[in-house]
Amino acid sequence: MEIRTLGRTGLQATELCIGTSALGSMPQTYGYSVDEDQALSTLRRVFQGPVRFVDTSNEYGRDGSSERLIGTVLRELGGVPDGFLVATKVDPDSTGDFSGRRVHASVRESRERLGLDRLPLVYLHDPERLSFEDGTAPGGPVEALRQLQADGVIGHLGVAGGPVDLLRRYVDTGVFEVVLSHNRYTLLDRSAEPLLDDCAAAGVAVVNAAPFASGMLAKGPDTTDRYFYNPAPPQIMDAAKRIQAACERHGVPLAAAALQFSLREPRITSTVVGITRPERVEQTIELAEHPIPAELWQEVAPAPEEVWLS
Ligand SMILES: NC(=O)c1ccc[n+]([C@@H]2O[C@H](COP(=O)([O-])OP(=O)(O)OC[C@H]3O[C@@H](n4cnc5c(N)ncnc54)[C@H](OP(=O)(O)O)[C@@H]3O)[C@@H](O)[C@H]2O)c1
Repeated sequence: MEIRTLGRTGLQATELCIGTSALGSMPQTYGYSVDEDQALSTLRRVFQGPVRFVDTSNEYGRDGSSERLIGTVLRELGGVPDGFLVATKVDPDSTGDFSGRRVHASVRESRERLGLDRLPLVYLHDPERLSFEDGTAPGGPVEALRQLQADGVIGHLGVAGGPVDLLRRYVDTGVFEVVLSHNRYTLLDRSAEPLLDDCAAAGVAVVNAAPFASGMLAKGPDTTDRYFYNPAPPQIMDAAKRIQAACERHGVPLAAAALQFSLREPRITSTVVGITRPERVEQTIELAEHPIPAELWQEVAPAPEEVWLS
């Protein structure tokens, strides 16, 4: 497992990262629920390595169940095992409050659930839920994150979200050392291209989440129509079937091509794969190592740009 430095943070991170949203059980998002025993056995396997980067959030699962279950396993292990990096995110409360005061509370909750005094990497999560002006205003979430960093409670700041142009504005502030983008640099959608360029120029690390576009590029368009947490539009289904056929011609699993499309991109430091079963750790490593002939990359054009997420 290749270990890389996460931009200017100096933090060491494996090129793969385990995403824990689905294992917090979010049936409305993923289309299935995950019971706690399965989630715990998955996390116990995750913390045996060799993938040593784990992604969570204050709001994954009911009442932060993703963080809470990670905290359970970390307590069993006596703390974060050597070489592991656990990143989390700040979120609004159930009323939608995303003020600076709420950010302090979000971090307090995350520290308690995870059992960690200091959080090495915390992202502002889905800032599309407020305007950029409110996000960066005095008393707003960015100011609160900077204060928590100055107080030593947070090591490094990141921003994690969807809309590419909004993430580019946050990168421009110079406050964030890591950007997590999702579903926008996949075999089907390349909207994140300008963000990757900005981050490379600014020395900001990019973490690319959801290389399977939330499921379709792992399970296959013949098995699921689940794309970006919803039923896929027809152009996406057509493109996914075309890409799957190209993979089959070369004897490559669609999931291997989807994962390696992100892993082979030099502007991306780490790729976040969401899993809910222990055996997925080995499977993910096998997918990352599956041989792929160079010609396949010429044959996997994305979906038409009008259906990209942007
Ligand atoms: N705004 C944000 O910050 C943001 C947004 C999106 C994602 N993320 C992070 O990125 C992570 C990954 O995103 P994601 O989970 O939404 O999407 P994803 O990684 O593209 O896809 C996850 C789906 O792929 C399936 N899968 C994974 N490996 C598989 C395999 N070998 N065979 C068959 N199916 C496989 C999982 O199924 P199983 O359940 O069967 O394992 C799950 O349904 C999240 O968990 C989260 O940590 C962050």
